[in-house]
Amino acid sequence: MQLILYTTLAMLLTAPFVGIGGIVLAVRQDAPSSLVLLVAVPVGALTIGLLIRQMVPASRLLQRFVDAVNRVMREQITGIRVIRAFVRDENERLRFAEANTDLMGVGIRLGRVQAFFGATSLFISNVAAVAVLAIGGHRVVEGGLQLGSLIAFLTYLTLTLGAVTQGLSVFMMAPRAKVSAGRITEVLVTEPSIAEPATPVTVEHWRGDLELDGVTFGYPGAEVPVLRGVSLAARPGRTTAIIGSTGSGKTTLINVMARLLEVDEGAVRIDGADVREVARRDLSELVGLVPQRAYLFAGTVADNLRYGNPAADEAQLWHALEVAQAAEFVRAMPEGLDTVIGQGGSTVSGGQRQRLAIARVLLARPRVYLFDDAFSALDNATEVAVRSALAREIGDATQVIVAQRVSTIRAAETIVVLEAGRVEATGTHEELLATSATYAQIVDSQLTVGEAA
Ligand SMILES: Nc1ncnc2c1ncn2[C@@H]1O[C@H](COP(=O)(O)OP(=O)(O)O)[C@@H](O)[C@H]1O
Ligand SMILES: [Mg+2]
Repeated sequence: MQLILYTTLAMLLTAPFVGIGGIVLAVRQDAPSSLVLLVAVPVGALTIGLLIRQMVPASRLLQRFVDAVNRVMREQITGIRVIRAFVRDENERLRFAEANTDLMGVGIRLGRVQAFFGATSLFISNVAAVAVLAIGGHRVVEGGLQLGSLIAFLTYLTLTLGAVTQGLSVFMMAPRAKVSAGRITEVLVTEPSIAEPATPVTVEHWRGDLELDGVTFGYPGAEVPVLRGVSLAARPGRTTAIIGSTGSGKTTLINVMARLLEVDEGAVRIDGADVREVARRDLSELVGLVPQRAYLFAGTVADNLRYGNPAADEAQLWHALEVAQAAEFVRAMPEGLDTVIGQGGSTVSGGQRQRLAIARVLLARPRVYLFDDAFSALDNATEVAVRSALAREIGDATQVIVAQRVSTIRAAETIVVLEAGRVEATGTHEELLATSATYAQIVDSQLTVGEAA
């Protein structure tokens, strides 16, 4: 778009002046020879126009194939370890070659038309010059025309035809710019799916009483909803656990609670206020989420922790790390809190990453804590230590824990068994053992594994 703007300003604005000015001056120089212009300009414009029309679809394709090559390459760079581990180098090489061949094909096609374009415009202007010399030269010999006028006329002719070519060649770039403009517009007009409430409710002291009432949610484009009529309550000072098989909708449920996803039906309420009515800033302070895939940013340990609370001092950081059982390994790092972590947390182990993410949310001091499988990479002893320290630290806030391991959740005041997006049963560990076949099965499978070990 920049390029086309630049060329438009530089050429499209000057070309008409040069073109029209050239014609006027040429006619004034010698009217009979101007008949050549009458033929050459339309013929030139028409030929060039036709060539450009040829190029339009190709340049649109070119933009698409450039995208494809970029996409394949980015995916391969991100997934390079997996590709190596599965020895898929050759396949990936072929995949890249395929995308690249497409690009090359269009590139060559476009290059050909472009070369033809240059040659044709030169040809037309030279044929016109020959015609002028033939007509004008004759009259110079007869004495009807000055040699100087003929040379001047030739110069005006070249100028005029050059202006026509240049003016039209701007249109050659237009299709690519149009594709780009389309994309930029797409980004600009995208409405955030999570809208800010028009008149947000304000609550003086949030308690963090979380309630889901008949929540149904489906991902856009999916045929069946992932969550269907989910109702549950998570009370302050209590732990509510969610257990269920992989794909049963636990992560989706947690995201709905934090209003990272908008419910299709039903409502999520905190202290009676629908989360859709709460200002997003308030909500993000109110609800703290440790996601299943804890993400750390490139930066120091301290930078990452301060995402939770930018104003936290060093003592607070260490305290949060202690609670999350992360102080020990941070202290052992070469520069402690100032140790730089790679993008995405690539330089710490999965378990360390989870503990740093827990410390980060602790610093934010929300009223509702959501832990999405946030202890999965910790060994049993560490998990027990984290959980008991958390219980003391969090106090009367609301705790929602998603877990796979029964040992993580058995002490929770309420356990919700989620199966295929529905609440299958709710109760304490003992109650569920008696009432829920699914729960009993989960417990059974894990006990067997434990006993076998
Ligand atoms: N971003 C998404 N787009 C479409 N479908 C999704 C998305 N995330 C998850 N799903 C689908 O929703 C279902 C529940 O996923 P999830 O909530 O992650 O389950 P769990 O955390 O219990 O393993 C799965 O069938 C999954 O395929
Ligand atoms: Mg999950």
